[in-house]
Amino acid sequence: MVIPSQMRAVVYDSPAKTADELRIGMVPTPTPRTDELLVRVTAAALNRADLLQRRGLYPPPAGASAILGLEVVGEVVQAAGAWQVGQRVMAVVTGGGYGEYACVPANEAMAVPANLTDAQAAAIPEAFLTAWLNLITLGELQAGESIFIHAGASGVGSAAIQLAHHWGATVYTAAGNDTKRELCRQLGADMVRDSRMPPHAVDVKNATAGRGVNMVLDMLGAPAWEDNCAMLAQGGRMLLLGFLAGSKGTIDLGPILTRSLTIKGTTLRRTPAAAKVALVAAAGAWLLPRFAQGVLVPIVDQVFAVGDVAAAHQRMEANANAGKIILAMDW
Ligand SMILES: NC(=O)c1ccc[n+]([C@@H]2O[C@H](COP(=O)([O-])OP(=O)(O)OC[C@H]3O[C@@H](n4cnc5c(N)ncnc54)[C@H](OP(=O)(O)O)[C@@H]3O)[C@@H](O)[C@H]2O)c1
Repeated sequence: MVIPSQMRAVVYDSPAKTADELRIGMVPTPTPRTDELLVRVTAAALNRADLLQRRGLYPPPAGASAILGLEVVGEVVQAAGAWQVGQRVMAVVTGGGYGEYACVPANEAMAVPANLTDAQAAAIPEAFLTAWLNLITLGELQAGESIFIHAGASGVGSAAIQLAHHWGATVYTAAGNDTKRELCRQLGADMVRDSRMPPHAVDVKNATAGRGVNMVLDMLGAPAWEDNCAMLAQGGRMLLLGFLAGSKGTIDLGPILTRSLTIKGTTLRRTPAAAKVALVAAAGAWLLPRFAQGVLVPIVDQVFAVGDVAAAHQRMEANANAGKIILAMDW
């Protein structure tokens, strides 16, 4: 296959405050390193980071593509490692997902389960690898433990509910409307609160006979700190992966000492390559057979044609999505 030197991609003049400044333009086709695949992207998914990056608030890490997009599904057109041209792969990328072609480190790619469409597969990489990194790698969640997951119907939340549930944990969560709350229940949540009605700690303590949960997965940030601490059990772990409601505030550190809490934070995008390879290997070995069996399901909120990328961004900005917003790369 002849790879063109120029390709189509979603572009904008940075910073783009509004989504309607996004447009399709021509950019140089990326050149893969010897350890990278070149993938013809058929589907990509939105992430909150895309909205921030578009607005100039979240620059890509050094060496990453300046094009938006942190996850892709597509066909290998230039192989590396053990992959063959023509295979369907899915992966997180440090950037470049909203392009016609993207470079993917060969040992960070996962084979797409045959039962899934490209759009379904695009809902997997970022959400499920982030969930695995936080719950399993960093949080060491154990079967029989309990967890509170904020924004349960978000891309990450809907993946984390499924992972925790099938891992054998009891899952408490919160979401913003009835449709989202019903989705959370279907995915395995044992209790679903209204995310607009915090604090959640009273109900969580009641549901756990006063003990509290072993883990909180938080993407809200400072405004949720007090509630998170109040619902954590002795020795509890708080995994921080975002600041949707704000990163700054006045907080009481007391509970960290009195209840021996552990607080960990991370971003998948800035996870070192070696750790990402290990993550993909460990998570892929557990997750992929379960997707193939239909035990785990990718949660697709809505599929937008890439030409409607502005509407896709607006849907996420309105907090309207339950699960992942997908771009079909039908240039
Ligand atoms: N650190 C990492 O490696 C990593 C990786 C991926 C994502 N993330 C972060 O994880 C978070 C979720 O990402 P996502 O892509 O899954 O998000 P998403 O699908 O866009 O869902 C986010 C949801 O969070 C809730 N929300 C938004 N703003 C809120 C606020 N101010 N207060 C309370 N709830 C609010 C809304 O749900 P309700 O209406 O149901 O409340 C919203 O639909 C983001 O902060 C993202 O940056 C981090």
